[in-house]
Amino acid sequence: MKMKLLIIEDEKITRISLSNTLAAEGFEVFSAGDGEEGLAIFSREMPDIVITDLRLPKISGMEILERVITLKADCRVILITAYATVETAVRALKTGAYDYLTKPFSPEELLSILRKIKQFNIVLEENKELKKRINLLENRTIIGNSPAMKKLSELISQIAQNDSTVLIEGESGTGKELVARALHQHGPRRNEPFIVVSCSSIPDTLLESELFGHEKGAFTGAVNRHTGYFERANKGTLFIDDIDDIPLLMQVKLLRVIQERELTRVGGSDNVKIDVRIIAATKVNLKKKVELREFRDDLYYRLNIIPVRIPPLRERKDDLPILIKHFFGKYGSEKKFELLNEEILKRMIEYNWPGNVRELENIVQRIIALSFLGTPDFTLIEFPGQSVRYSPAPDSEVNYPPFEEYILQKEKEIIDWALKKSEDNISRAAKLLGIPRTTLTSKLNKFLC
Ligand SMILES: Nc1ncnc2c1ncn2[C@@H]1O[C@H](COP(=O)(O)OP(=O)(O)OP(=O)(O)O)[C@@H](O)[C@H]1O
Ligand SMILES: [Mg+2]
Repeated sequence: MKMKLLIIEDEKITRISLSNTLAAEGFEVFSAGDGEEGLAIFSREMPDIVITDLRLPKISGMEILERVITLKADCRVILITAYATVETAVRALKTGAYDYLTKPFSPEELLSILRKIKQFNIVLEENKELKKRINLLENRTIIGNSPAMKKLSELISQIAQNDSTVLIEGESGTGKELVARALHQHGPRRNEPFIVVSCSSIPDTLLESELFGHEKGAFTGAVNRHTGYFERANKGTLFIDDIDDIPLLMQVKLLRVIQERELTRVGGSDNVKIDVRIIAATKVNLKKKVELREFRDDLYYRLNIIPVRIPPLRERKDDLPILIKHFFGKYGSEKKFELLNEEILKRMIEYNWPGNVRELENIVQRIIALSFLGTPDFTLIEFPGQSVRYSPAPDSEVNYPPFEEYILQKEKEIIDWALKKSEDNISRAAKLLGIPRTTLTSKLNKFLC
């Protein structure tokens, strides 16, 4: 689509010659001989670019600039001035002009500014498109219409705005990280970093230097200075996951940093000021850990300023339909939602979801992968604890089914495992099983018969 450009210039010859040059360059050109006419055209056409003389009858170029920017913030305004004084130019740029030209100027000078605008707009459009795609892929909306989730969403919007420490409690897979990200995204620190540190994935011996950083030579192997998670999150949010896993000794150090809002790197002596919002998450009831003296009460109270509890999925089964639909959409198969039959929906509702929303997401992904081979056979979807079909009896009285059937069942199990492991990528699953892809596909087809 052509970019719209408005020229406001009282000198007829300049106006006409500019109009012709720019029309030839591929712009849709409008022109006006004074500011009043210029603004009238502007309101009607909402052009992308305005080129205006600074000294005009009736309304000055500066006033036009101000009005244009208020009406359309992303409009690019180029000012033309015959008597460039540095002050006017600076004032114009400060007000929001894109650039300015001093008379006399060559058409090439103007064209080079316009080409830059064109290129910038292309990049801007691409950027918008990419952001849209990232959003779709990272779909971070908290879904749920159960009373508990509605309340949670309300709470999030209330507490995102302030800087208080939040303690999120929820079983594995309930969406603790999702909630933490939502708090960051809706709060004033949204344009600063959101850093995640999982205490359970860092060995106890490294926890201190990972959290607070270390100086060069602090210990054997500390070849360079290392910036810790706290410093990396500066100005933003630090999400401390699995806080229930941190050892007692580290709890003391963490408490000090949270209280003082400053830290000392391992092997260092300087106090480094930090400005971070802390969101911690626990998968167990931390209060109980405090009672058992496995977690320091002073740290607990420091963290538990605003408690947020995410109920397990089995306590809010009303959320199942909307979540299932959401995950079908997230993996690009909205229409396949209709493939779900009564039987599988019933099983999904009866199931108690020990792995919560994460488990549900995995199962939907599995259903989608299976549906690439035709109408999915839902018996292939395992619900641990629910499918009791060929599980061996606990004692010696094992009652095996006929051999062929048994082997087929075992094959299903191992293929299911490989698909899960490879995130439903058939080629990778085949590789994992050490069989050609075609063999795996034919086996999957066999199951569907
Ligand atoms: N209410 C929800 N709406 C949409 N997606 C959700 C919801 N809850 C969880 N999810 C999705 O489920 C997956 C697991 O969520 P998340 O990682 O936030 O859980 P968690 O509680 O941090 O789990 P873990 O304890 O295993 O780390 C993610 O892909 C997340 O997007
Ligand atoms: Mg998590």
